[in-house]
Amino acid sequence: MSSAQPPHVVLGVSGGIAAYKACELLRLFTESGHDVTVVPTAAALKFVGAVTWEALSGKPVSSDVFSQVPGVQHVRLGREADLVVVAPATADLLAKAAHGFADDLLTSTLLTATCPIIFVPAMHTEMWEHAATQHNVETLRSRGSIVMEPAYGRLTGVDTGLGRLPEPVQILEFAGNVLRSTAVRPDPEFEADSALAAAGWRGSVRHDLSGRRVVISAGGTREPFDPVRFLGNRSSGKQGFALAAAAVARNADVCLVAANVSLPTPYGVSERVDVTTTEELRRAVTVHADSAHAVVMAAAPADFRPATVLDHKIKKDPDHPAPTIDLVENPDILAELVATRDRRPLEQILVGFAAETGDARGSVLEHARDKLAHKGCDLLVVNDVSGGRVFGADDNQAVILGRHGFEREFARGSKADLAHAIWDEVSSLWVTR
Ligand code: CTP
Repeated sequence: MSSAQPPHVVLGVSGGIAAYKACELLRLFTESGHDVTVVPTAAALKFVGAVTWEALSGKPVSSDVFSQVPGVQHVRLGREADLVVVAPATADLLAKAAHGFADDLLTSTLLTATCPIIFVPAMHTEMWEHAATQHNVETLRSRGSIVMEPAYGRLTGVDTGLGRLPEPVQILEFAGNVLRSTAVRPDPEFEADSALAAAGWRGSVRHDLSGRRVVISAGGTREPFDPVRFLGNRSSGKQGFALAAAAVARNADVCLVAANVSLPTPYGVSERVDVTTTEELRRAVTVHADSAHAVVMAAAPADFRPATVLDHKIKKDPDHPAPTIDLVENPDILAELVATRDRRPLEQILVGFAAETGDARGSVLEHARDKLAHKGCDLLVVNDVSGGRVFGADDNQAVILGRHGFEREFARGSKADLAHAIWDEVSSLWVTR
């Protein structure tokens, strides 16, 4: 994928009722800067007509290999695609793909594509769970294709169960992360780096977090002082959630501890624990850290909490001055993780974040170097938050500092891109250890 050109996505649509949701997925892809060619099967066109796909993609669509013959469409599409996403993928389409059928434009394109392929199944529970479908899914996965897990929920009619198409925004986020974890071709470093290959690069998708369990904390804690009020901070949880989504695409087993985050759970996260206070965050992270290969503390835990939590609301009282709130210090979770790491069974990588502002005592980077030294974690990701930059935004700017003096600047980019840069560094620490 060339960074100068928009990524080219082939959106295959097979014939299930969820085809209507692929219209929204198409919209999301085009609005986020992807160049999309839709390839519906003949059955998909019974659900959503060619006019809709053409209007939304701005390109002609066809289902068979007999139109636009001189351009040899199925070969061109397969070769030029950076990513193929088949959504919905019906049981029939999965069966054809697993057996290498090539009787229409979509199935033929699946055989010519050399880029990552994501199948997004949607069907009735019985069809999904049938041994034939499961066998086909296994076959496709063993060849390096990605088959997403269907969601649980309302199916066609009144049925509820496993087999629902994951939400289009989840598919978009997952697909974006698969694209980000795709080796740029040709990439001489990639060819030469057998250590990376040994760490699990498969085809052109990076699966370097395979077999790794990672715990990520996200969001900002809230410390109550009466039943309706709390001390909090402005962390939105977006960077932590982006880290979770990126880790899933790189095949990690992800536990996400979310402090007051209203964002939907990224596709593929195996466990989400919602917490409110620093003490709850500490408990959740500590318990899950026991089985983790890496812990990333992207959350902003409150450093202080009110010494007393009243069980009644503090009222205004004209006869008394405004109340003062006494604070006590919260435990430093990251420092505790560092201090106890030798007691945990796995050799663990610990990553901290530092939201810094420069002041008379030093620059952002100088404060970050000091923080890395006294926290003792392996990596520290520092953001300059002067003027409220970063909070709630979709992009970020950071420097990743390593324990042994390593510093990597991440010029402004999306939080998803920064997430991958962080996993790159975590992954190379595993390779070099
Ligand atoms: N952190 C933590 N427990 C706390 C406070 C912070 O684990 N009670 C973690 C954060 O998740 C982050 C890192 O420590 O990964 C640095 O957080 P930051 O608030 O920047 O650092 P502090 O140590 O609190 O230092 P200060 O606020 O004084 O700059």
